[in-house]
Amino acid sequence: MKTAKILVIGSINMDLVTEVPHMPLPGETIHSSGFHMIPGGKGMNQAVAARRMDAHVTFIGRVGGDIYGQALMQQFDGEQIDRSHVTVDKGASSGLAFINVDSSGENSIVLHSGANGRVNKSDIDHHKGILQEADLVVLQLEIPKPVVEYTVKLCKRLGVPVLLNPAPAITLTAEVFTGLDYIVLNEIEGEQMTGVPASSPKKILSELHQMGVKNAILTLGADGVYFSEGGNMSKLPSRKVEVVDTTAAGDTFVGTFAVFISEGFSFSEAVQKGIDAASKTVGKLGAQSSIPKRDEIFF
Ligand code: RIB
Repeated sequence: MKTAKILVIGSINMDLVTEVPHMPLPGETIHSSGFHMIPGGKGMNQAVAARRMDAHVTFIGRVGGDIYGQALMQQFDGEQIDRSHVTVDKGASSGLAFINVDSSGENSIVLHSGANGRVNKSDIDHHKGILQEADLVVLQLEIPKPVVEYTVKLCKRLGVPVLLNPAPAITLTAEVFTGLDYIVLNEIEGEQMTGVPASSPKKILSELHQMGVKNAILTLGADGVYFSEGGNMSKLPSRKVEVVDTTAAGDTFVGTFAVFISEGFSFSEAVQKGIDAASKTVGKLGAQSSIPKRDEIFF
C-alpha cells in the first residue's frame, strides 16, 4: 500500500478548554469544573488526523513568537509532521481558541486568529515546490480567505488535487468551487455555501456540483453522512457512541478521508473510515487529545 502525501495549509491554535455545566448566558458568570490547554486549530487537527492514519504530512502555516508557539512546534515534532514550512512569526501571538464544553458534549468556540491571520500568498509561493509533491492539498477557512482562494487556483493550474473544508463558513468567490476536487462540510456550512436549506441535504450536494465541485461530502453528526461522487449520491449512518466532546470530530473526518482516498480506497470506504475515526474522537475531551490512530479504526 502506498503512503499518502498530504499537505495541509491552515490554522494552528492552542485550545484553552473549560468544562462547564451549561453555556454561560449573556451577563452570567459560572464556574468551570476543569481547564485544559490542548493543541488544536482546524488545520493542525486535520494534519494530526492524517498523520495518525500513517500519511506523510507537511504543513504550511504560522505560529506566534510566544510560549504557545513553542509548545505547538513541539507538538508537530512529537507527531512527526514536517513543520519546516511553518513560520514562527515574532510579530504576532499564536492562534488561540477559547472553548467551552458543556455536560452534553456540545462546544462553543471564540477564536483569536493571531499568527493564522498573517498567513499570506508569499508563504504559499515560497513553498510552491512542495505543493506539486502532494497527493492532496487540504485547506480550511481559519487563515485569510484570499490565501485560500489563491491556493485553490494555483493547485488547479498545477494539477494538484484539493480538498476544502469551508469552516468556519464564510462567503467564497464562485470561481473557487470550480477548482475543488473534494468539499467536506456540515449542514450549516452547506446552507451558507449554497443557499439551500440544511433540511435538504441532497439538494445541497446537487447545488455544489452545479457550482463546479467534483465530489462533495455533507456531514450531519448523529444523522450520518451524505456524499456524492461526481453526482452519484449515497448515505452512510453514523455510529452510535457516547458523546463527551464533539471538538475536532469534523477535523478527524477530513484528515482520515484525505488519507484513505489518496491511498486508493473507494469513495464510500474512505467516507466510512472518516466516520469510524470521528466517532472515536467524540468519545474523549479535546481536539488533538482525542484523535485516534489508524489501528483503532481499521477493523
Ligand atoms: O475544529 C475544532 C477546532 O476549531 C479547535 O481545535 C479550535 O482550535 C478551532 O479552531
